[in-house]
Amino acid sequence: MSPPPVRAPVIAGNWKMNKGPTEARTFFTAFTSSYESHEDRTIVFFPPALSFAAAAEALAARPDIGLGVQNVHWEKSGAFTGELSAPMAADAGAGYVLIGHSERRHVFGESDADVARKTAAVLAAGLVAVVCVGETLEQRQSGELEEVLQRQLTSALEHVENTANFMIAYEPVWAIGTGVNATPQDAAAAHTFLRGRLASRTSAQAAAAMPILYGGSVKPENAAELLAAENVGGLLVGGASLDPAGFARIAGVRVG
Ligand code: PGA
Repeated sequence: MSPPPVRAPVIAGNWKMNKGPTEARTFFTAFTSSYESHEDRTIVFFPPALSFAAAAEALAARPDIGLGVQNVHWEKSGAFTGELSAPMAADAGAGYVLIGHSERRHVFGESDADVARKTAAVLAAGLVAVVCVGETLEQRQSGELEEVLQRQLTSALEHVENTANFMIAYEPVWAIGTGVNATPQDAAAAHTFLRGRLASRTSAQAAAAMPILYGGSVKPENAAELLAAENVGGLLVGGASLDPAGFARIAGVRVG
């Protein structure tokens, strides 16, 4: 079953290492009763892989809500204990894969080269690659913002020819899980820079069609103003996606 075509804005919940199958079922019972389908957006959840089947079952009657996995290995199969592959994620019903989240990069040592291989594997499996980029506070303060974003974006696209299923999430590391979100102006500046780099790497038309998600301390209270910022085409929500009522407010945010 392939997911419906992506329609921006894309509002995604990254559960990280939270909610086993039982809690996932409880969450979706509450979420689906408070969030009604909206045709003008795409909603996606990234549950832990062990909760994926429970989530897919709970959402069987809600084809408007997509599912993804938080990480994959770049190989299709083999002796890689503890890993999972993009074709396996596709077989399980995933439509999306998060790649290069800052926790993968900074806690698990994932490199730009790993991100490039994973991106290619995900696109080859026919899934949407949501590649996370973003600077640390130190990099921002020393004026390296654009250099870091440029390097992460260029390397993610290293093995990519067709960018139809490619998406970027701008997640400043200093804003993740800290309660300090980027201002809409900060987000607009970074997203506009990324859009420009995407246009020169692909084409103006392809770049314009790519949603660029903002992530980092998104809450029901700031979702609308962040989404309204220039070149922000979606939200990637961590902590606030764990609460069904709060995330239903974010998912149902007024658009346009
Ligand atoms: P946060 O996380 O919303 O809890 O800041 C965002 C993310 O890591 O994707």
